[in-house]
Amino acid sequence: MPTSTKSQLLRAQYEAWPYPQVPLLATLPSTHPFELHVAWLWDRCGSGPVPSRPRIWIAGCGTFQPYAFAVANPRAEIVATDLSATSLRLARRRCALHRQRHVQFAPVDLADESTWPAGEFDLIECYGVLMNLADPLAALRGLRRRLTPRGVLRLMVYPYWSRQRVFQLQRLAHLLGFTAAERSHPARLRAFVRSLPREHPLRWAFTTYADSRNDAGVVDGFLHQGDRGFTGFQLGALLRDAGLVPGHWFHRPWARPDTMAGRLGLHDRDQSFVLNYLDLWQELRGNFVVCARRGDAPPREVQPVAPHPLFAGPAHGLRHRLRLQRLRAFGGRVPARTQDGDVVLRPADARALAHGVATASLHDAGLVLGGRDHGPTLPPHRDFAGEPDLLRHVAALRTGRRAPNPLYAHLFAAFELAVRHPELGLPDLDGQLGRWLPWADPLEQRPIRFGLTPYGTCQRYRANVLEHLARGELPTAAGWDEVRLRADAEALGRVRALLRDHPDLPAQRRPEAELRELWVLLCGHDSLFVTLG
Ligand SMILES: C[S@@+](CC[C@H](N)C(=O)[O-])C[C@H]1O[C@@H](n2cnc3c(N)ncnc32)[C@H](O)[C@@H]1O
Repeated sequence: MPTSTKSQLLRAQYEAWPYPQVPLLATLPSTHPFELHVAWLWDRCGSGPVPSRPRIWIAGCGTFQPYAFAVANPRAEIVATDLSATSLRLARRRCALHRQRHVQFAPVDLADESTWPAGEFDLIECYGVLMNLADPLAALRGLRRRLTPRGVLRLMVYPYWSRQRVFQLQRLAHLLGFTAAERSHPARLRAFVRSLPREHPLRWAFTTYADSRNDAGVVDGFLHQGDRGFTGFQLGALLRDAGLVPGHWFHRPWARPDTMAGRLGLHDRDQSFVLNYLDLWQELRGNFVVCARRGDAPPREVQPVAPHPLFAGPAHGLRHRLRLQRLRAFGGRVPARTQDGDVVLRPADARALAHGVATASLHDAGLVLGGRDHGPTLPPHRDFAGEPDLLRHVAALRTGRRAPNPLYAHLFAAFELAVRHPELGLPDLDGQLGRWLPWADPLEQRPIRFGLTPYGTCQRYRANVLEHLARGELPTAAGWDEVRLRADAEALGRVRALLRDHPDLPAQRRPEAELRELWVLLCGHDSLFVTLG
């Protein structure tokens, strides 16, 4: 899609549905966004001490981030930009309401560099935006040029494999005729998905997706005008080609490449490989969030130990001072940005922090800067030439008796990789199956049931997948109009009846090819395999 068409589509979407939908009066405690403090991010990336008045650019800021960054960085100069004027208006109003006055706002299209703010930045935040662009590499190269030599870019993109359920829901919504252009559609899509059987994986994926509770979130997730995911290899190549090097993975412990390489015996691999592996095996359980530096940045440095400036620096604002005093008197919870591993600060630690003493528990809690190198030790990226072939293979519509069910294609992908690319020397497949099977689909955090006990399900699942992999190549079809389902007429009748039961669905004529695809998405969830003739 041409760049300007894509920007127009997305502008229309985010003008109508500014994201995220958070009440204007919702407040963040001033200690909460401590991991968004530019000094903290520079420390994690080994960039050394930050300038006294750092410049921050939030590129694609949405309605909330300017407020969070302003709270985290009271001494910074912040520029917040977005394609959507509605989002900017809401973000500005939120900052004004919460008396955060050090943020400037401007409309910017990341696909058009002539609209970008002037100058260089010590921190660029680009969270959940790049996968909306027609040419993410061009934008990333531009962002890299706007970094100061030791500057940090914090980037979030969706993972390709772990997000497959969301992409399937997008496809379902599209086939049903839901669009972001209709105000009533998010709520009607929600009602439809909630009417699916409880054990349906798409219902599970929808209801456990936090944003599905509000309409803007439903649009951003399931009625999006064109986003995408990146595999670990694609992200690694993108960063390298843009002249960036990962400085710190802003992940929970189980998704950090270094930690997991150790646990999985993947010591001699690169970061892209390990992240790709975690994503494929559905063990990432979050998005890719990387803090990257310029490839020509000075070498990483470990600074002398210093307490986090938000807790020990000159206090700004009465509320913040009162909060610190309360922490020192009673201790308390300091939420982490990853919404996991919140810090529970004991009063003695809070007092130590205030006096610049770095206790071991403060180090572990991440409230101390310096003293350690937090960067990844694995090499950043090596290309995997077989990936395009694997992606094509997994996405192909395979036909014949007992073809892999497209609804579960992403679950087959990890096995496909192991079997089709023995040169990668992946850890023992049986061992990995053992790790995985207690949660047959760990992304959904529960065992898949195919009408058996969970144990029986796991055994059957294992046997079926291994049997499938041992078979020869199955034929493929170019599209749904080329295939028939087993008991085709009956299956079509069942989908038609299901759709008739929902008079609230958008009225439209649905070709048989679409009905067959809908049958798989809506009715074919109780089997790993389908028969497509
Ligand atoms: C998923 S939202 C993320 C918002 C914010 N970064 C956050 O994490 O809350 C994506 C944002 O990117 C913005 N956006 C999409 N395409 C853009 C483009 N070409 N240039 C600038 N912003 C864009 C949208 O307007 C929207 O606010």
